[in-house]
Amino acid sequence: MSPPTPPLARQLRDATRDAHRSLDHHPALQCLLAPTLTREAYGASLLALYPAHAALESRVCREITRLGLRLRVPRRLPRLADDLGTLGLTPEALASEAGPTPASPATLAGELYVLEGSRLGGQMIADRLRRTLGPGVPHAFFSLAMVPGEWSRRLAELEALCPPGQREAAVAGAREAFARFHHQLDTHFRA
Ligand code: HEM
Repeated sequence: MSPPTPPLARQLRDATRDAHRSLDHHPALQCLLAPTLTREAYGASLLALYPAHAALESRVCREITRLGLRLRVPRRLPRLADDLGTLGLTPEALASEAGPTPASPATLAGELYVLEGSRLGGQMIADRLRRTLGPGVPHAFFSLAMVPGEWSRRLAELEALCPPGQREAAVAGAREAFARFHHQLDTHFRA
């Protein structure tokens, strides 16, 4: 039996449900689930995902180091670059942004929730891609599935990062991470 969902995780899920729905309805992501998806449209979607994911992943990893935390986060950007390369595409050079202000451990908990939570729908997307584009389609980015217990362990780590009095800061971090991701897709998606 899986452990009960920690209070912070419940709060984050409730507070970001609408942001998730709005993001997974974004044309850059919706097209991935469509039976009419073409290889070209898949490429356009990955090209938009590249800067969005890069900004979130690099921010989280940089802040983990800066705060001296012992958290391990798998890097998925190289997988995304490989998938693009297999499709014959090169991502745009990443803008070196000054970025948001330094994170507190609580804010970081919210951002890490968004980064790692984005792996949860990946397997379903990978299955769909294989069905619409065939078994040879490159989908390493979406295929880094969670091993059993991994998500629960991650949620326990988030809980440990964020004292109960700072949960609002974690929620703000998660909301901002969703909003920045959405903005990146808006900016970079060329249908
Ligand atoms: C078409 C795109 C997407 C689909 C179909 C999708 C689907 C899903 C699904 C099915 C879950 C629940 C999995 C489970 O309970 O086991 C989930 C959870 C989650 N996803 Fe997505 N997702 C998508 C995109 C994203 C993106 C781009 C992000 C963030 C950048 C994201 C962040 C999250 C988070 C944080 C959770 C955890 C929610 C919770 O606390 O239970 N998702 N997604």
